[in-house]
Amino acid sequence: MSENVIISPTQYADYPALMPPEELAAMQRQAQRDPDGFWLQQAKRVHWHRKPRHGFKGSFSGDVSISWFEDGLLNASVCCIDKHLTDKADQVALISHREGQAEAEKLTYAMLHERVCRLSNALVHLGVEEGHRVAICLPMISEAVVAMLACARIGAVHVVLFGGFSAEGIAERIVDSGAVAVITASESTRGNKIVPFKAIMDEALCKAGADSGVRAVLVVRTSDAPVPMLPGRDYDFHDFVDSFEADFVPVVMRAEAPLFMLYTSGSTGKPKAVVHSTGGYMVWAAYTMGMVYHHQPGDVMWCTADVAWITGHTSVVYGPLANGGTTMISDSLPSYPYPGRWLDLVDEHKVTMLFTAPTAVRAMMADGDDVVNARKLDSLRLLGVAGEPISPDAWLWYHDVVGKKRCPVVDTWWQTETAGIVLGPLPGVQALKPGSASTPLPGLEMVIADTQGRPVQGPAEGSLCIARSWPGQARTIWKDHARFCQTYFSMVPGHYFTGDGARRDADGYYWITGRMDDVINIAGHRLGTAEVEDALAADHRIVESAAVGIPHPVKGQALAVFVIQRQNVATELTEKGISRLVSGMLGRYATPEAVYLVPDLPRTRSGKIVRRLLRKIASGEVENLGDLSSLNDPTIVQMLCDRVWSHM
Ligand code: WTA
Repeated sequence: MSENVIISPTQYADYPALMPPEELAAMQRQAQRDPDGFWLQQAKRVHWHRKPRHGFKGSFSGDVSISWFEDGLLNASVCCIDKHLTDKADQVALISHREGQAEAEKLTYAMLHERVCRLSNALVHLGVEEGHRVAICLPMISEAVVAMLACARIGAVHVVLFGGFSAEGIAERIVDSGAVAVITASESTRGNKIVPFKAIMDEALCKAGADSGVRAVLVVRTSDAPVPMLPGRDYDFHDFVDSFEADFVPVVMRAEAPLFMLYTSGSTGKPKAVVHSTGGYMVWAAYTMGMVYHHQPGDVMWCTADVAWITGHTSVVYGPLANGGTTMISDSLPSYPYPGRWLDLVDEHKVTMLFTAPTAVRAMMADGDDVVNARKLDSLRLLGVAGEPISPDAWLWYHDVVGKKRCPVVDTWWQTETAGIVLGPLPGVQALKPGSASTPLPGLEMVIADTQGRPVQGPAEGSLCIARSWPGQARTIWKDHARFCQTYFSMVPGHYFTGDGARRDADGYYWITGRMDDVINIAGHRLGTAEVEDALAADHRIVESAAVGIPHPVKGQALAVFVIQRQNVATELTEKGISRLVSGMLGRYATPEAVYLVPDLPRTRSGKIVRRLLRKIASGEVENLGDLSSLNDPTIVQMLCDRVWSHM
């Protein structure tokens, strides 16, 4: 029933809407009529050393090429810091809350400038040059933001790695990216667990061995615990960096120079790094965040994403800072050490815009309304979500209970590859439909394609594609442009294919139906099932495995793994052991929810595993298994159902 709710913008009469609906419509028309003119106008949102005169150049066909603002020159750290020093030097740019510390750290734009400059000098002193890659693997502490911006200032390409990756996963990414330096921490706390960042990094660098080009490791000491340091390679971050000069002349970059690379999961086993440009990305971050979250004086934006994800890049760092806002980070968990922890932080720091993943909304919902009602939450003006589908029920709970029906909820759809919001409503301007990511921002031409890859008009369901380039689009996959073309541009010729399915309703609103490839989304974290299967294949006791996504009440999806064990091995595998194997190889976030040791898997006559069936069996959806006659051995299905049921 809640699928049909429509909330009119008049419900938020006091909301500081960005523009009247007619202006939005005019903007849509202008973007359609003259895309280059439109984007060149949007490019004025950021500071250029040389303003661009050209918009888009390139093609979505053949050997895809994408370039924006090619004659423009800029530096991303200037867009985020120096641009604001004349009128906002003393405004807080970054609030960094750390669990267990009495006072949050607050950095004004002037202080952020100073810290970024010192680190820029330090990195250059260590031999980091323009175009070099620097791996950043840090918890949510101010140094993470400083590190990204310092890389940008010297023209180095940052590669932020998630602290939840295993040593194996970090090693693989450090080698693939060719990072020359690493910025990490001694350790961090996650709830009641200690995450030993430095020990994991040491193990990763040891695994990477001679394949790693890392010459220096800067270590932020986050506690008094002793940290082993390798002389000549490891430096105590503050001891080393704080003595450098507090000024650094930014390196002027071409618009197309890469700003960062970010690893994400796809349908093949190897994680891929998508590459984002400086000019297009900065314009895009400023535009998307400016349109949906436009900062007002006094606003505090808290996007709870980890900096290692695209949401952390755009909604924590580049978007809010490009727009001169105040951004907040925290290493806390929504309900630890007690339910309502995040809500207390909202009250304490007077957060006005809260942006999180649907998983966190579901977790807060499970804690109950009383927890929310015991807090004031009167500073909030806007609530947002991204990263995974949110059900109309969870949306309405967020809106009614957390937002007290006063704050619009923006459900924004985007991807690591799109770098910023693609689908999302303008709060106070457009009607909201709980469960729908609304409509495209001006300048984005969305297409729904049918099973033959043909664009369809009007209300329709199919694969979600984008017909024309946008400035923040990923330019390539690092060292594998062929894979870039194949993954994103071969499905619907001349279009970018998102990997998602979607339905467009009669009002032009989009409803995401989920991934169409073998990527699953666990608590907003993308994981390729092939990555899991590749990790398991490395163990000689495993003949074959199949990983599938199953629904999970809080995480959205969880991982289920079916494993065929080799006969007569000396030490047999247990289901727990397999679970540990996966988390050890990929990271804690990939720990399977269920592991089934099975004698065989359902296959077609040609031997292909029928994943569709495994998904249904693992989810307990056994009423509608479909036609089994094409299977090589249909009896296997009953055996698998019995196996799964005995666990449920
Ligand atoms: C999914 C996260 C439904 C989608 C920003 C996409 C969503 C993938 C939404 C990208 C949403 C993202 N509703 N699904 N509002 N936003 N997704 O690269 O499947 O970590 O392809 O970027 O998350 O995940 P990524």
